[in-house]
Amino acid sequence: MSSEVFHIIDPREFDRELLDELCEITDTARAVAKTREGAAMLRSLLADKRAMLYFTQVSTRTFLSFNNACHLLGIGTSEIRDPTISSEVKGESFDDSLRTFSSYVDVIIMRTPERGLAGRAAALMNQIPRRVPIINAGSGPDQHPTQALLDIYTLERSFAGRGGIDGKTIGMMGDLRRGRTVRSLCYLMKNYHDVRLVFISPPSLEMSNDIKKHLVQHKIAFSETGVLDSVLSSLDAIYVTRVQSEWDSEGESLKADLDDFSIGPNQMPKLNPEAIIMHPLPRGPEIDPSVDSDPRAMYWRQERNGMWMRAALLIKIFGVEDQLKS
Ligand code: NCD
Repeated sequence: MSSEVFHIIDPREFDRELLDELCEITDTARAVAKTREGAAMLRSLLADKRAMLYFTQVSTRTFLSFNNACHLLGIGTSEIRDPTISSEVKGESFDDSLRTFSSYVDVIIMRTPERGLAGRAAALMNQIPRRVPIINAGSGPDQHPTQALLDIYTLERSFAGRGGIDGKTIGMMGDLRRGRTVRSLCYLMKNYHDVRLVFISPPSLEMSNDIKKHLVQHKIAFSETGVLDSVLSSLDAIYVTRVQSEWDSEGESLKADLDDFSIGPNQMPKLNPEAIIMHPLPRGPEIDPSVDSDPRAMYWRQERNGMWMRAALLIKIFGVEDQLKS
């Protein structure tokens, strides 16, 4: 196995072989890091590389997990988190700024409020001599491919004794229309057999047609409901999301009665004893903190998985996965 990867822009580009390989690299890197010697070896793995974290949209987990993943591998980091202190205020174009970053670093990890900008950055890189990989760390309300990778890893490992993701029923609840994490995760589902998706949302926040069309094209079964109670006991996993009220244009979030799309003490007894609860975080009121101590709550582990999966992705992008095993 060893397909090449370069830019990470769109989850539709991932195949099963690559997803399985990334999960394996994640496990190996985690195991290696458990000893002092192993951790030192990891830090030497990409010590000749530098990364740019260009995050002009708010971020806690994605920024910190990428930053720490880089440091685990010895990658030096620079960052811009506020475009008002970069030369973009002097009128420098996005393309010129990006070309500048590529003069200094070996990979650009970027999160922007605009959809499509990571794709544009990748296209630009393909035209210049010092072409460096672009990783999309969130492109507006559109896509979040590396979150989807860590979600896949979390699902696969949670169902390790039960055949992995294949054959599972996965609920997605909340703001499905504007939540880029669920949109990206839906795209990856074409790589698994007999998965059933259950979308649970108020009508104003239901999954968009572009994703539903993709699911139909790839023969992925899905259903939609506004009533959590009617489906809760049938789920192997429930992926809860917060309402993305920052994208409201017509008070979409106010139109919805969000109490009906939450998990708390009343819902827990109805959830399958083996099911898992996921959330990309940050959470709002949709998961009651009392749920955190239930063994089915997977979101804090999911968060930590993110750092290791992102380390695995960097290992794969720079093609040093074989050195990890030796
Ligand atoms: C998500 C995001 O930014 O899309 N957070 C994350 O990256 N873990 C989810 C969200 O903000 O709701």
